[in-house]
Amino acid sequence: MRIVALAADGARNLVPLQLAPGPRFNVFSGDNGQGKTNLLEVVYVLSTLRSFRTNRLADAIQREAPRATLRARVVKSDLERRYQVVVEPGHKSVTLDGKTPRPLARYFGAFNVVLFAPEDLQVARGSPADRRRFLDRTVFGWRPVYLELAQSYEKVLRSRNAVLRNAAGERRAPDLLAVYDAQLAPLAIEISSTRRALLAELAPRFAAAFEAITRSGIPVALRHVTAPELAAGDVDAVVAGLVRDRARDLARGATSLGPHRDDVGFRFAEAEAATFASQGQLRALVLAWKTAELDLLHDTHGDPPILLLDDVSSELDESRNMYLFEHLACRHLQCFITTTHARHVRLAEDRVDYVVRDGLISPVNQPR
Ligand SMILES: Nc1ncnc2c1ncn2[C@@H]1O[C@H](COP(=O)(O)OP(=O)(O)OP(=O)(O)O)[C@@H](O)[C@H]1O
Ligand SMILES: [Mg+2]
Repeated sequence: MRIVALAADGARNLVPLQLAPGPRFNVFSGDNGQGKTNLLEVVYVLSTLRSFRTNRLADAIQREAPRATLRARVVKSDLERRYQVVVEPGHKSVTLDGKTPRPLARYFGAFNVVLFAPEDLQVARGSPADRRRFLDRTVFGWRPVYLELAQSYEKVLRSRNAVLRNAAGERRAPDLLAVYDAQLAPLAIEISSTRRALLAELAPRFAAAFEAITRSGIPVALRHVTAPELAAGDVDAVVAGLVRDRARDLARGATSLGPHRDDVGFRFAEAEAATFASQGQLRALVLAWKTAELDLLHDTHGDPPILLLDDVSSELDESRNMYLFEHLACRHLQCFITTTHARHVRLAEDRVDYVVRDGLISPVNQPR
């Protein structure tokens, strides 16, 4: 799949833009703070209806502007579709080919992106919350219905936590909690099992990619860390667990058991990568994940996703960069690549260059 036209008006610092990106490599160069990541955010929001920079989409509206209007025309298997997202404070409206998609899940599936950002390179040693976000981004590209599932879960979880916090003096609290426990348990299991299924699909591709990158013969694996009740997939056991933890949850004002506490373990030479692998090896693990994610989404959707590569080259050493670009050059992917220096991007062919300055994106006309 590829974007044949991209437009944004009122997005962060970007000057209203209209681009006709090239089918393969689109390289956006510019100094720090000029709007390169903002451009990738536009594409990401159009594809996923979420931002990777903020939980409040309204942050992506240009200061002082009433709204951000984002549009893309995307071709998949010779079929062109028009995607539009209008973000206003507290509200977004979404259309696909001029109509509101119902259910919303119909919006997704023919416009997939994989994002690879420099922050990701720290993920193996980062916090569990960072790893869950990282994992969920991949899960979501793989199973678009996951978005609604995750949102339903978060909503019930927030309600349950509110009851926990206000339980003192509330006679109905035990009844309310019983209702929420029954709603939460099946959603919790579905989230956990979807994540596990994704990791099972990703793992062989991940191990193969790691070997291709490092040629080290070191075995690597991914481990889903989740509560035993969730892993067992037994609704009654999850409800029983929530009841068992209730006194503690009331004291904490938060729910202890659930996939909001899941984690992903990066295993390296049969040990925890976070404590055992070198900084460079940790980066190679994340690079392997992203390569595996591209392969998986390609296989799943029958078409390669669009890659958003946010200034990753400057964080990778020579040989990892070589691997990355060689890998990309032999795939039929459309890529949006940002960099502070165009020469860092070692791609000679099928490339269109742009300069990003103060929110203005201009094509570079002269041959390189
Ligand atoms: N809502 C907003 N309205 C207007 N400008 C914004 C908004 N949010 C962020 N900016 C501006 O956008 C600029 C940052 O853009 P961006 O993060 O895309 O930079 P970048 O080119 O990726 O830089 P770097 O190379 O440092 O990553 C900053 O100048 C910031 O002040
Ligand atoms: Mg940036």
